[in-house]
Amino acid sequence: MQEDGKDFDIDITNLYERVGGTAFFVELVDRFYTYVENEPLIRHLYPEDLGPGKKHLAYFLAQYWGGPPQYSDERGHPRLRNRHMRFSIGKRERDAWVTHMTNAAKSMSITPEDAKSLNEYFENTANLLMNQDTIN
Ligand code: HEM
Repeated sequence: MQEDGKDFDIDITNLYERVGGTAFFVELVDRFYTYVENEPLIRHLYPEDLGPGKKHLAYFLAQYWGGPPQYSDERGHPRLRNRHMRFSIGKRERDAWVTHMTNAAKSMSITPEDAKSLNEYFENTANLLMNQDTIN
């Protein structure tokens, strides 16, 4: 066993590369937005033109998972909690968002391990973005 714990030739490429790069995140977000378009719980939070937000989310995720800093080049520091403060996000909205993103991820051709990593990240981040105490 080497000091870094890599005692044999494991796959050290990151998730971004494994799933197929930025094209994967663009497709994932496309599928997610198809659900959002038909989801009354959160559709009203989004602007009429879904195009720019779609692109920002896809580039953000690609950057987060190890891709190029295209999101920050265009939008600056993510400040996600700050950027979501103007939307009322309680448990219902959070659950709807996570459910649709999880389903979008499930529909893509990736390993169960990578799907699990993505879903854990989505859940944790969505929890941080809640800004309403709703009991429902
Ligand atoms: C918890 C439920 C969530 C709701 C209801 C929500 C809602 C929204 C809305 C309405 C926008 C604006 C879209 C636009 O202007 O076209 C937005 C932007 C964005 N959201 Fe969320 N979101 C949620 C969770 C998340 C999570 C978990 C992430 C990251 C993993 C995320 C990442 C982003 C990013 C990167 C943007 C674009 C920010 C920018 O303007 O540069 N959101 N979100």
